[in-house]
Amino acid sequence: MKENMERDVIIACDFKSAEDTFRFLDLFRDEARKPFLKIGMELYYAEGPSIVREIKRRGHRIFLDLKLHDIPNTVKKAMAVLSHLDVDMCNVHAAGTIEMMKAAREGLTREDGTRPLLIAVTQLTSTSEERMQRELLIGASINDTIVKYAQNAREAGLDGVVCSPLEAGMVHEACGRDFLTVTPGVRFADGEVADQVRVTTPARAREIGSDFIVVGRPITAAADPVAAYRRCVAEFVG
Ligand code: C5P
Repeated sequence: MKENMERDVIIACDFKSAEDTFRFLDLFRDEARKPFLKIGMELYYAEGPSIVREIKRRGHRIFLDLKLHDIPNTVKKAMAVLSHLDVDMCNVHAAGTIEMMKAAREGLTREDGTRPLLIAVTQLTSTSEERMQRELLIGASINDTIVKYAQNAREAGLDGVVCSPLEAGMVHEACGRDFLTVTPGVRFADGEVADQVRVTTPARAREIGSDFIVVGRPITAAADPVAAYRRCVAEFVG
């Protein structure tokens, strides 16, 4: 798994169809650096596993972001199905408990002992501390919740967590430098925030110690997506 762990930018391919996705990916045809891509619920539910195989065939690394959250047995079986898709990274919600995360890891592990990286969502980057406390009745601070969920994920044998780049430093402090932080909620200093709450720039994400930034609309909705991607790489990877 080690070769997949170098700091990188992951583009969130939040498109509604294969056609839109390939139109977007064709823009990167001459790019020396083949972007690492995230396939989320919208695209996966629209196109199914074939979109994963097709993008993989084009040589991209893939983070399959389906955020599984169910009883342990169901998650284990679903992960066993996903393990055959040959993605590089996939995820669950840490809120599903340590038992569920362990079941996910077992299900994802292939017969030969290999598996994709497995990470857990702590708190969505669109969730504010106020909403978490008022609506979810979680009385702790959002930072304490994130650190605790990250520790649970590490205890379950996962490789890292999804959190805001603002939280990457404290997660590493609590769980070690090798424990991955995959961080959406990234915006250019001069860009739109939209529905995200806990955001920062690619350069700041690097300073705080994020391992992978997940960037959607700042690249996909840019007038020049390739230029926006290069700007992210320049700021984050160097
Ligand atoms: O367009 P934007 O850059 O906000 O996209 C962020 C991506 O990261 C989306 O695909 C979203 O589903 C995902 N994500 C997130 N917060 C999390 C986990 C995943 O924004 N905690």
